[in-house]
Amino acid sequence: MTQIYSKILGTGRFLPERVLTNADLEQMVDTTDEWIQARTGIKRRHIAADDQTTADLAEAAARDAMAAAGAEPGDIDLIMVGTTTPDQVFPNVGCLVQERLGIHGCPAFGLEAACSGFIYGLSVADRFVANGTAKCALVIGAETLSRMTDWSDRTTCVLFGDGAGAVVLGPAEVPGVISCHLGADGRYQDLLYHPYGTSRKQRPEDTEGPFIQMRGNEIFKVAVKTLENIVDETLEANDLPREAIDWLVPHQANIRIIQATAKRLAMPMEKVVLTLEDHGNTSAASVPMALDTAVRDGRIQRGDLVLLEAFGGGLTWGSALIRY
Ligand code: ACO
Repeated sequence: MTQIYSKILGTGRFLPERVLTNADLEQMVDTTDEWIQARTGIKRRHIAADDQTTADLAEAAARDAMAAAGAEPGDIDLIMVGTTTPDQVFPNVGCLVQERLGIHGCPAFGLEAACSGFIYGLSVADRFVANGTAKCALVIGAETLSRMTDWSDRTTCVLFGDGAGAVVLGPAEVPGVISCHLGADGRYQDLLYHPYGTSRKQRPEDTEGPFIQMRGNEIFKVAVKTLENIVDETLEANDLPREAIDWLVPHQANIRIIQATAKRLAMPMEKVVLTLEDHGNTSAASVPMALDTAVRDGRIQRGDLVLLEAFGGGLTWGSALIRY
């Protein structure tokens, strides 16, 4: 029997219209544009309108990716949405997107792995396509992190933004998705988390608000180390030298973390796709939005070898090596 692989047929993204600049943040908290740019690399971020939800962003990114792939709603037979900011507890965002696209019956689910959500989703969808269970999978990363950001906390509010990115995956005779590598370590859960959910509710005695909590300095160090390890793991698994990689599409959390990963790959920064400056950290949406940006501006061409990587709360981390 011929081995089936998966490949990316098309990419898409959607950003809400409203832009919040560092100058805007200077009016909200005790910070400066200079500090934010120097410590993070971020200049501005997009923020969802009050009536826009994660499903709205996900749907728009999905339609964009489907148009790029030439896929009709009737072609889609799997929907996965990586998100930590779902519209509701259930139905999951995948079901909401499915209904809006007028598709009925195919599996649709959400995947919660914080900033690694898209790469986790890509890895799962790759298996569905490679074993013949799905022929046209929609993989989305979508977030409205602004809804869980404390806009009076300068240590976190300068970092995050909203957006959505998507890819359509289909079958191929040669590997498009070459290998995915996932990991998690719950020992680091206290470095980055949201304290409350449905089961663990906020109590009157709790001092933390219902917002992202982060020990930025500590997670920074763990992130650099973890990403170095996953880059090495991906290269070793494929018996590839560092210089084989044409493009690095990293999770857009902090320019200094990205620079450290690029250094590990001995890769010049011109080969690293950066959207951080304009998007901030959009968690699960950041990697597919960056991928789409570089595909659409012509940097990433068919046949290029691309390394996607992410890490996030959990901790979770993941990489995907793809031949675009
Ligand atoms: N403006 C001005 N000063 C600030 C701000 C701000 N927005 N935020 C913090 N500071 C101050 C601090 O209070 C501190 O002051 P002090 O020295 O008087 O105590 C000083 O700046 C240095 O603070 P640090 O936290 O040590 O600064 P650092 O260089 O570590 O940068 C940052 C902070 C940008 C958060 C960095 O640690 C980082 O990016 N960490 C990784 C974060 C990350 O990637 N998180 C997301 C993971 S992805 C996900 O799952 C969502």
